[in-house]
Amino acid sequence: SVDSSIESERTLAIIKPDGVSGNHTNSIKETILNNGFKITEESFIQLDEDRVKSFYAEHSSRSFFPSLVQYMISGPMLIMVLEKGNAIADWRALIGPTDPLKAKVTHPHSVRAICGLDLQKNCVHGSDSPQSAAREISFFFERTSSGHVSKHDEL
Ligand code: PPS
Repeated sequence: SVDSSIESERTLAIIKPDGVSGNHTNSIKETILNNGFKITEESFIQLDEDRVKSFYAEHSSRSFFPSLVQYMISGPMLIMVLEKGNAIADWRALIGPTDPLKAKVTHPHSVRAICGLDLQKNCVHGSDSPQSAAREISFFFERTSSGHVSKHDEL
């Protein structure tokens, strides 16, 4: 069939602390499912400082890094693995630009336009490449040799 030729892809999605505390979790999950993604893994987590620094290591020299770290440890988050053809680019398109205030103007129906508060509290994360997706998925969801998922950071 035509469908079987479309290769499925996995990406990591995070509903960040402002998204969870703002009660956007259910509507975001509904948006995800309505756009053809399967949620194949999910877990509520809270990261400590070392884990956040490791997750965002590529941004460690940025001026906003200390503030980003404090924000990301401030409360629980929902991490999910999303799966469908072109999942990485499609999830990035669905969440919209990094800055919710800009998203409200240019992409008013995007998740960040609807749920985000500012450049830091921007509600959601999405992997930006196949390399990032592989790294980020294994950062949170590691398969043991017996096939069980061992989850770090779980609440
Ligand atoms: S860049 O310049 O392309 O690397 O930046 P970008 O991909 O847009 O952002 C990388 C992550 O850093 C967060 N970010 C910020 N946090 C706090 N303050 C400021 N000013 C700021 N700018 C960017 C941004 O939300 C990205 O987080 P993730 O979780 O990767 O989306």
